[in-house]
Amino acid sequence: MMPSKENPPRFTRVSRRKFIASTATSAAFFGAASSVLISRNNVLGANGRIGVGFIGVGGRGSSHVGVVKKLIDTGQPLQIVAVNDAYGPRLRVAAEKTGARAYPHHKALLADRDVDVVCIASPDRLHIPQALDAIRAGKDVYCEKPMGHWTQFQASQEFLRETRRLSRVVQIGNQGNSSSAWTKIGELIQKGAVGRVQHIQAGYYRSGDWGERMPIPDANAKPGPDLDWEAFLGDAPKVPYDVRRFFSWRMFLDYAGGPCTDLFPHVFTPFVSMFGLKFPSLVVASGGIFKYDNYGREVPDTFNMCLDYPEKLSVVLVCTLTNQFNAEPAIRGDEGAITIQNTSWEGGFDSVTVHPRKGTPKVIPGEKPDSTTAHWKNFLHCVRTREKPVSDVEFGYHVQTALCMAMLAFLNKKVAQFDGTKEEIVL
Ligand SMILES: NC(=O)c1ccc[n+]([C@@H]2O[C@H](COP(=O)([O-])OP(=O)(O)OC[C@H]3O[C@@H](n4cnc5c(N)ncnc54)[C@H](O)[C@@H]3O)[C@@H](O)[C@H]2O)c1
Repeated sequence: MMPSKENPPRFTRVSRRKFIASTATSAAFFGAASSVLISRNNVLGANGRIGVGFIGVGGRGSSHVGVVKKLIDTGQPLQIVAVNDAYGPRLRVAAEKTGARAYPHHKALLADRDVDVVCIASPDRLHIPQALDAIRAGKDVYCEKPMGHWTQFQASQEFLRETRRLSRVVQIGNQGNSSSAWTKIGELIQKGAVGRVQHIQAGYYRSGDWGERMPIPDANAKPGPDLDWEAFLGDAPKVPYDVRRFFSWRMFLDYAGGPCTDLFPHVFTPFVSMFGLKFPSLVVASGGIFKYDNYGREVPDTFNMCLDYPEKLSVVLVCTLTNQFNAEPAIRGDEGAITIQNTSWEGGFDSVTVHPRKGTPKVIPGEKPDSTTAHWKNFLHCVRTREKPVSDVEFGYHVQTALCMAMLAFLNKKVAQFDGTKEEIVL
């Protein structure tokens, strides 16, 4: 199926063969493979109304509800039919705002026949188990990033296998893949602006320990009808209830990974897409808790990772949560470099500068479109046509593999390698 307005090429990306051989005039590049998937059980016509259910309506889930409501207001044939959250007060707010049925458990939502697609925005460790439940219940899935928890490499393989077996449409929430801005860089590289690329350096810099993003709304909240601790734990170790773990889960390794899994999906995916990267051959990582040793925090506030790809490309990503001072990302090739100004990663950037090896640098304007809305539109288009979304589960698996390798390298103080024959991470 040809790329269309609703399902544009993922990015203009450099083909693997040409990437290795590379010439400045290389004409071989390809957009996202958009092969048609087999029809779903309950086929939706072009104008059939899609019933949407939300699993997890905290910060991100609520903002997705807002996006879908706006799409409804602009005439998209959608209806928010069900919401689910393990915390009663949030569930009730979402149900009141949407008029949708409220389910305290995601399995009850999945049993609702009016739900065609689900948006999963629960804590990271629940994404894959809930997505597997959803596709096995015949639903299509918009699954937030990171695709899974850093312990779930094998589960991510199962997610890929099951999505294919059941012919479901899955969009992973790397909305940067729906930002037209990044396409421009792919085109520049394709046209030979910097020759063959060997090195990419980027980072994410913020100030804040995540406490400000993970407030505890009720310090006295206890497990019971309004707080489902067991559902929150999922397949995580069965530890006694702790209000900080439930609400400020980003601080704890059982449920999150810190900058690597929370922030790097945004920074990393444009390059995975642009160069069609699959599995890194080798990953090293460093960092630690260098400032915020409060709250019983377990995840690092400083994290650096270097990934080597078989295409002879190194990707170096750095992050600190202690200072937001920015450094411009740089893509370096043998004929020049591209730097990126004022990027918001998931949205886009203000401009790029091409620095040829000889001659004057050239500034090219960028853009910062509303990529989350575009990502939803792409997902819904694919639900109807059964095409592959721009951030499909296979793409998510490649990103997830790199993130798992980095976390395992960091936590074990080892070099993580990838055995491509067995598709295994080797430490
Ligand atoms: N793509 C993006 O730009 C973006 C931005 C922010 C967050 N996210 C992702 O969205 C996810 C949620 O992040 P957040 O900031 O909204 O966190 P949050 O804590 O605000 O929201 C998570 C919600 O899930 C609920 N929950 C917990 N266990 C559940 C269960 N078993 N079933 C249903 N609901 C359950 C919690 O009660 C909470 O309301 C994370 O994985 C995060 O990485 C993505």
